[in-house]
Amino acid sequence: MDVHVSEAAVAIAEKDTGSFLDDVLRGLGATQKHLPCKYFYDETGSKLFEAICGLDEYYATRTETALIVEHGKEMADLIGPGVSLIEYGCGSLVKTRLLLDALDNPSVFVPIDISEEHLMDAAEALDRDYPDLEVLPVVADFTQPVSLPEAAENQDLKRVGFFPGSTIGNFNKEEASEFLGAVAETVGEGGGFLIGVDLKKDEKTLLRAYDDAEGVTARFNLNVIERINRELGGDFEAGAFRHEARYDEQEGRIEMHLVSRCEQTAQIPGHSFRFRKGESIHTENSYKYGVEEFQALAAGQGFSPVKTWVDDQGLFSIHYFSRH
Ligand code: AVJ
Repeated sequence: MDVHVSEAAVAIAEKDTGSFLDDVLRGLGATQKHLPCKYFYDETGSKLFEAICGLDEYYATRTETALIVEHGKEMADLIGPGVSLIEYGCGSLVKTRLLLDALDNPSVFVPIDISEEHLMDAAEALDRDYPDLEVLPVVADFTQPVSLPEAAENQDLKRVGFFPGSTIGNFNKEEASEFLGAVAETVGEGGGFLIGVDLKKDEKTLLRAYDDAEGVTARFNLNVIERINRELGGDFEAGAFRHEARYDEQEGRIEMHLVSRCEQTAQIPGHSFRFRKGESIHTENSYKYGVEEFQALAAGQGFSPVKTWVDDQGLFSIHYFSRH
């Protein structure tokens, strides 16, 4: 069966990707310079992220995957048979496959991703391997409310959101609430939501995970500067910046910064940016949550906790919520 992408959504996503220049001008013009973390993920950045996921220090991916392997059957029992599964942002699909394999006869799979090329490759591979599953990909920025394709809307199936990887950590508390509210609306009354959330823990473990010995995370962070050069004709010197991870315990978040090693000026045609020595570009937030803390956030948006799974070391959590 051919997989077709939802067309209405394509226009939205294209409009959104047109704004890299605007976001760079706005972000580097601010007092605390910053760049949206979504710009990490071009082809180079996506490969570097895959490499991060395999690092010893980056416990999140292997811990979450192990939780799905160990508890997949229980997750599937709680989710129930014949559901429509909606995945927010689709990465390598390793975890998705593990979940689909555990589920009882899933009917529809709706992967939502900003990158059409990546989405179509992933959707076609799944469609090949799961012939009984109807795959209905949607190209969209899932940080905005997303409407499901008609074929998924029209079927009277239980809808279950799936959001692994603790990507919710990139949202601040307010954005996270808003996102949870949008998911609640999409899955509707009686729907479910399975979400992976990184846990609060000691600062040393966190800092190691975001500043690995091999420097893969540093290259991942610095790639956003190379992207400004490649795509916007910038003359930034990546070597004049260094990667830094910080933990803000008050906020419960890891921050990634690119710190200027010297006083310098960088340009993109028509614009120039001054950096003091030690001045940083804030490139990412990764919020961490306690189990009850996250359950309370979700409860505010209509989600009741059904079950939460945590590994023995207390590194990572997966929550299953039902929409009340
Ligand atoms: C993809 C947002 C979950 O915050 O841990 C990994 C991204 N940044 N190393 C995270 C990331 C640096 C990752 N998320």
